[in-house]
Amino acid sequence: MKIAIINGPNLNLLGTREPGVYGKQTFEEYFKILVNDYPDISFDYFQSNIEGALIDQIQKVGFSFDGILLNSAAYTHTSVGIGDAVKAINAPVIEVHISNTFSREDFRHKSYITPAAKGIIVGFGLDSYRLGIEALVRS
Ligand code: DQA
Repeated sequence: MKIAIINGPNLNLLGTREPGVYGKQTFEEYFKILVNDYPDISFDYFQSNIEGALIDQIQKVGFSFDGILLNSAAYTHTSVGIGDAVKAINAPVIEVHISNTFSREDFRHKSYITPAAKGIIVGFGLDSYRLGIEALVRS
């Protein structure tokens, strides 16, 4: 099984960015644990702060991977383009958020990804990604 993880803006700063909200672990540290825990899955990890680069990556993996975990971070709440990219591909997309966006500011309650996503996992810290993998493996 091939699973792509795509992270959006500022998620490269996990570990130091607002640790009270996002925790103290870097994504690279967490990713190593995931790779180790799921030896039968081939993972591809991509992060960008640039909206168009995220769309390019969704298009790149979206026709050949078995699933995508997408945390488009702040672009979740603003990007018609990323939402359209998710609609345009074949691979199922699980929308992932580290924090519980619904317990935060109102502008974080809107998502352009959700209507096109297979499902959403929100608020479990970095383990939102693990739960997303489980959802893909079981479906
Ligand atoms: C986030 C939530 C977004 O509202 C925020 O802009 C992020 C991270 C999360 O994983 O909790 O950058 O997607």
